[in-house]
Amino acid sequence: MGILDGKVAVITGAGSGMGKATAKIFAQEGARLVISDVSGAEAQTAAEIGGDIVVRHCDVSKEDQVEALIAAAVARYGRLDAMLNVAGIGVGGMLVSFEEAELDRIFSINFKGVFFGSKHAVRAMKDTGGGTITNWSSLSGLVPAAGTVGYGASKASVIHLTKTVAVEYGPSNIRANALCPGVITTEGMGAASAAKTPGKATRNPLGRAGKAEDAGELAAFLASDKATYLNGVIIPLDGGWSCTMA
Ligand SMILES: NC(=O)c1ccc[n+]([C@@H]2O[C@H](COP(=O)([O-])OP(=O)(O)OC[C@H]3O[C@@H](n4cnc5c(N)ncnc54)[C@H](O)[C@@H]3O)[C@@H](O)[C@H]2O)c1
Repeated sequence: MGILDGKVAVITGAGSGMGKATAKIFAQEGARLVISDVSGAEAQTAAEIGGDIVVRHCDVSKEDQVEALIAAAVARYGRLDAMLNVAGIGVGGMLVSFEEAELDRIFSINFKGVFFGSKHAVRAMKDTGGGTITNWSSLSGLVPAAGTVGYGASKASVIHLTKTVAVEYGPSNIRANALCPGVITTEGMGAASAAKTPGKATRNPLGRAGKAEDAGELAAFLASDKATYLNGVIIPLDGGWSCTMA
């Protein structure tokens, strides 16, 4: 018995990092999975997990692809219980050198991707009595740091979106919550961040980076019936970094 037994979950960005780890943990906890990525690596994630998993290519910045992703879950399983909006990109840069094209790109993936995922998940969940939406924001969405003007704003917008969905659709038994990772060791963004800023991972009170599985375990709890009164909650996953002035 797992805490997600029988629940139908859609995961974006499941080819790498926290999306991949989350897919593995959801499978272990008994969820039925529809996993996706834009990279093609989602097929490898499914192969590593094994069993019956729906695998879809999906660029989250394209609304028709996100809509089709969720429709695939409903077509296969008749419902959607958990939407995991994990996919995201990092683009660094200070205000005066941040180009409009970079701003458009980061918002089209980090904000619009979560917006589309939430919108179409809500539509599906309203038909079947509710569900949960978990969004990947960032510590950068809570606390500004130099060089994160575009990324931080895109992740702050995810926090506002999450709270708005929680308010608008709580009455439909849809819970929306967000994670704000600090430094998490992953193949993609985690590795890039560690290479760019050595020592960043140990600045938090625990003195170490988080693991992708830390996010997956938290996401599994949020999507489970153990968390039925958590709605609109924004959770730093940062070893306590956001508590300090360091
Ligand atoms: N790793 C960290 O330290 C950290 C910190 C704060 C927030 N985050 C956030 O957590 C999430 C996961 O990060 P990660 O470290 O696991 O990253 P990662 O780079 O390892 O994985 C991200 C995945 O998203 C996919 N992706 C990128 N653009 C996409 C698109 N348009 N459509 C669909 N998929 C797309 C990539 O192909 C990749 O497989 C991201 O939203 C990221 O912003 C990460």
